[in-house]
Amino acid sequence: MYSYEDPVFRQKEVLFPDYIPDHLPHREKEIKAISSIINSALKNPESISNIFIFGPPGTGKTASVKFIFRKLEEETAAFPVYINCFRINTRMGVVYAVIFEFFRKVRPTRRIPSRRGVAYDELFDLLVSELKKSRVFPVICLDEVDHLLPRGSEVLYDLSRLREESIPVQLIMITNDQFVFMNVDPRIKSSLRPVEEIPYRAYTIDEMKEIIRIRVEFAFQKGVVDEEAVEYLAEVACEMGGDVRIARETLLRAGELARQDGKFRVTVEHIKQALSESQFAKAKSIVEQLSSKERKIISLIPENGIFYPEFYELYRRVYPSGVRDRMLRYYLERLAKYGLITMERRGIGGSYFIRLNVPRRIFTQL
Ligand SMILES: Nc1ncnc2c1ncn2[C@@H]1O[C@H](COP(=O)(O)OP(=O)(O)OP(=O)(O)O)[C@@H](O)[C@H]1O
Ligand SMILES: [Mg+2]
Repeated sequence: MYSYEDPVFRQKEVLFPDYIPDHLPHREKEIKAISSIINSALKNPESISNIFIFGPPGTGKTASVKFIFRKLEEETAAFPVYINCFRINTRMGVVYAVIFEFFRKVRPTRRIPSRRGVAYDELFDLLVSELKKSRVFPVICLDEVDHLLPRGSEVLYDLSRLREESIPVQLIMITNDQFVFMNVDPRIKSSLRPVEEIPYRAYTIDEMKEIIRIRVEFAFQKGVVDEEAVEYLAEVACEMGGDVRIARETLLRAGELARQDGKFRVTVEHIKQALSESQFAKAKSIVEQLSSKERKIISLIPENGIFYPEFYELYRRVYPSGVRDRMLRYYLERLAKYGLITMERRGIGGSYFIRLNVPRRIFTQL
């Protein structure tokens, strides 16, 4: 029987964004610290500490928690819920996400309640009564928690306060910004206490090299990636902030380039070529999560920028039933918050000038 063996990749999936390795080198200490906080809460629900993880992009924060959640699900009675606040950024959304997971995992034979036409309080009461009955221990990860603030921050208060009703709930909050809670209502902040802080720092060059080597070993056929290419990639990824996401995307693209030129060897040249795209890896991962409304808006911004009033006209012309002025500005502010665009006032009393911070192809290629 004919079987095709890829001359470049052994297991390409290892380089895909959703892949969680069985081992995260150089994050053992952080993973151990987080796991032990959760485990001691499992043993003694009276002594829960919430967990606050912060650090620069691509340093393994999300990967660590997903890794821990996989183990929790396999080995303990905890009920882990992962929520990306970039997608779900209201208190209603968060509570519904927890209910949804609860019914899916804990009550699989019952119908998942609908959120349509249900008030927040009603939904929250349903969660409380189900948690009381089931006695599961929810460990809720709010990744990119800065997107929940300030609009959805009340939910942090509501979930933390459940402990007063003897319902143990542990929150894990992840963000890039160590000071994200600085301007949050003190009442909400104090409800989150006690909090254990787990800082994630950027990888050193040696750590990066080893992380890349291990990925290469699993992802590529033996001998395909030059040692020099690994060294070069590690150096650049460290210069760019120690971001493994950039390294991973670059390897994937460099592998494809090596295939295209038919020699099936990944060289420094391939890495260089691939890197020019991968620097937008984080931006791409954000664009992938935009709603269709947001994507339509950003796709209309011309490469060399546009003043807001003109943009509004353009938008309404293309989407006559699209959002109005105030909402359009709200969406643009969100895009600016994600770092995809910049809005600056020009001239005295002038209007906003909107500029793209990423090449257009990033959102037109998707
Ligand atoms: N120590 C490591 N070993 C192997 N792979 C890693 C390691 N750290 C990160 N990665 C990989 O790098 C990529 C980015 O990691 P992750 O998504 O966890 O970053 P993050 O810290 O959550 O970044 P952001 O703040 O941008 O969300 C993932 O593909 C992840 O598997
Ligand atoms: Mg992350």
